[in-house]
Amino acid sequence: MSADPSPALRLRRLRASAGIRAMLTETTVEPRHLIQPLFVTEAEAPEPIASLPGISRIPLTQLAAKCAELRLLGIHGVALFPKIDPRRKTAEGAEALNPSNLALRAIREVKTKSPGTVIFADIALDPYTTHGHDGILTDDGQDVDNDATVESLVKMALLTAQAGADFVAPSDMMDGRVAAIRRGLDLAGRTSTGILAYSAKYASAFYGPFRDAVGSARPAGAAPISKASYQMNPANRSEALREGLLDVQEGADLIMVKPAGAYLDIIRDLREATSLPIAAYQVSGEYAQLHAAAEKGWLDLRATRDETLLAIRRAGADVILTYFAEAYARDFAARG
Ligand code: PBG
Repeated sequence: MSADPSPALRLRRLRASAGIRAMLTETTVEPRHLIQPLFVTEAEAPEPIASLPGISRIPLTQLAAKCAELRLLGIHGVALFPKIDPRRKTAEGAEALNPSNLALRAIREVKTKSPGTVIFADIALDPYTTHGHDGILTDDGQDVDNDATVESLVKMALLTAQAGADFVAPSDMMDGRVAAIRRGLDLAGRTSTGILAYSAKYASAFYGPFRDAVGSARPAGAAPISKASYQMNPANRSEALREGLLDVQEGADLIMVKPAGAYLDIIRDLREATSLPIAAYQVSGEYAQLHAAAEKGWLDLRATRDETLLAIRRAGADVILTYFAEAYARDFAARG
């Protein structure tokens, strides 16, 4: 009798060669799955952002060319974020409703010169407010006024749709804003503008570099109101389901989880709870941490980048907003 050949089931057989592994790969990340966030500046030359290595604010005049270049790489979507001149900021963020503000000019520029680009435009007041909050404060300055903010966001969304955005993307986490924006757009005849709802947006410590990029960090001496009174508690899971399903009911076309890497369970929960496409935002801090570790020689940038993106797709995201989009697509093209 020969020795017991067990185990009878050897899963390594399906990992034995590169060909078998390629054939049985379950999840892919292709450039078409990625949306590139782009920061826009009024300045004449690109402005590198120290905490986002490889990412610069792009001058308005170079924006459309960048979008066209991304499309050639297979990236169809961009998420636009304006860096507003601090002199244009007020407590109410009125600049958000200025028809010739930088964000709206950027959308028009891209729509006319790179018409195939799919534009996701952020709807929130933080680039425009002196205090950096996503909305208008109550009279006592102790809270963000939900309903006054929503009123402003509806106007902002309408201007944004009229400028040519394909999707408005409310990132403010006010209650009722998706329904209000949908209704506002529809009443104005903008029935084909979509809504990408930041549904489960957490009060995360991973947004730091983004706030450097748009200049929305809380200024020294400002009232210490926390974004935690509107962004979600990182400890909560069922609440994300409620937020997500509510946004579906309110008329969102896509729902988003943000950040991505530390919230893969939430992506999976929503994936199982709705048949709507799901977006995930691999945020600025997720990008910065990999770059920082790679700079020290502690991690391999490309390999960790690819692994994080794969994990986000595996969790159930259809599309990913990521600062890695362009670099990933360039490597993807080079791999052939
Ligand atoms: C705010 C907004 C934030 C991000 C996107 N929209 C930051 C915040 O809530 O302060 C962060 C994205 C990132 O970190 O990459 N409306």
